[in-house]
Amino acid sequence: MHDKVLIVDDDPGIRSTISALINELGYGSETAADGMDAMGMLDSGPYLCVFTDIVMPNMSGLELIRKIKARDVSLPIIVITGYASVEIAIDAMKCGASDFISKPFKVRQIELLLNKVKREKSLLEENRRFSDALHLHRLIDNLVGQLEDKNEEIISLQAISEKIISLKGIRDLVGAIVDVSKQILEEAEVAFFPLSRKDNKLVDTLSGKEMPADAELLLGNIVRKHNSGSALLDKFETIFPLMIEGQVFGALHIVSSSKLGEEKEGKILYLLNRSAERMENVALYEGLYENMLSTLNSMAKILDARDPHTSQHSTRVTSLSMTMAQALGLAQEERDTLYIAASLHDIGKVGIPDDILLKPGRLTDEEYAVIRKHPDIGADILKPLPPMAKETEIIRHHHERYDGKGYPLGLKGEDIPYLSRIIALADSFDAMTSDRPYRAGMTAEEALLEITRCKGLQFDPVLAQIFIEKMSGS
Ligand SMILES: [Fe+2]
Repeated sequence: MHDKVLIVDDDPGIRSTISALINELGYGSETAADGMDAMGMLDSGPYLCVFTDIVMPNMSGLELIRKIKARDVSLPIIVITGYASVEIAIDAMKCGASDFISKPFKVRQIELLLNKVKREKSLLEENRRFSDALHLHRLIDNLVGQLEDKNEEIISLQAISEKIISLKGIRDLVGAIVDVSKQILEEAEVAFFPLSRKDNKLVDTLSGKEMPADAELLLGNIVRKHNSGSALLDKFETIFPLMIEGQVFGALHIVSSSKLGEEKEGKILYLLNRSAERMENVALYEGLYENMLSTLNSMAKILDARDPHTSQHSTRVTSLSMTMAQALGLAQEERDTLYIAASLHDIGKVGIPDDILLKPGRLTDEEYAVIRKHPDIGADILKPLPPMAKETEIIRHHHERYDGKGYPLGLKGEDIPYLSRIIALADSFDAMTSDRPYRAGMTAEEALLEITRCKGLQFDPVLAQIFIEKMSGS
């Protein structure tokens, strides 16, 4: 059976154009005129992926993406945009879209997209077989699929997963709740069971056993039970809901030999409320971080797909930057920041039109002025992500020059963020040594001579000297 693709667009012309291109590639296609229709058709799947427009009557494309993802998180969705709008693409990706396609639709572009979808699908299936345990694993595995150079891949995954693991997470807080409760209650047995929202069961994370949660607990009320008769002793069970953002997150389960009483219940409630506040902050932060990572992942994808000549540029600049980080003995946190900033330093190029970005010959002054906007565009893309504040400024200033003649602000010397000065060196070195359609790249020696010449002009003289020594192996 051929893989088939679902195309959702209110414009019959676009539906038939994309459909014809997809059929030409040997895939089946079905079409829907709006989101309602599309949701109805999902049952007649499975589909390899869904192409959807964003602006449609009845149900917006973003809503459709959310609905599809709620139903089947693994179904890839590709957004059709009339023109390459970064905002729309990023919004859609935040909702779960995996890529986007803009007019004019080309068969080669669709072929690449479908190949990517298939590759990711098989990766995902493989991952499922190994472990379905943590969202984080999937996130990281998904990142694995994006990066081409295996070594680079390992460095980046480590940096990212270390950053997440080092966060003071919810698990630590749960442990603290249990410990403090034990201190308050002395001889009681205390355990915390997270609630599985899927089937409203409490999960014993030690044994893996699940038990249905009381209806009262699910309403956010304390449940008190008195078990007597069969056992040697009377047992009192008190189950407190832990509420986060108005939802039951789990239950603190206490078994004691006497009733807890008002005072002890009051203390436990206070503990739970304070912990919930703290967790709301952590959850917010973790949510943001997760969201940020998936957005980052999408962005790296957009950047790679865009320009075949520079698809490895970011990877090489990152690698050169990390070599500098090593030579300079940067702290881990700074290395992580540098890593992310270097990987995404040219992300703003997603906002540069194809005819300028992909132009094979030299650029006119006007075109060059457009290209020069990319550091600001990149910074604007990252600005809404609070944990990326440092990276945002580093990216904004990666084309500043030490003598103040760079852009966008013409910052000078030490006013340029330190990590931006490192990326500037790595970026220029890679640009000089790479082939372009209109010229061959310089040798490493020639490029290093050029960097020597530009010490204190384009580049930070101290950093440039270290870079030169590092690259020439002396
Ligand atoms: Fe750049």
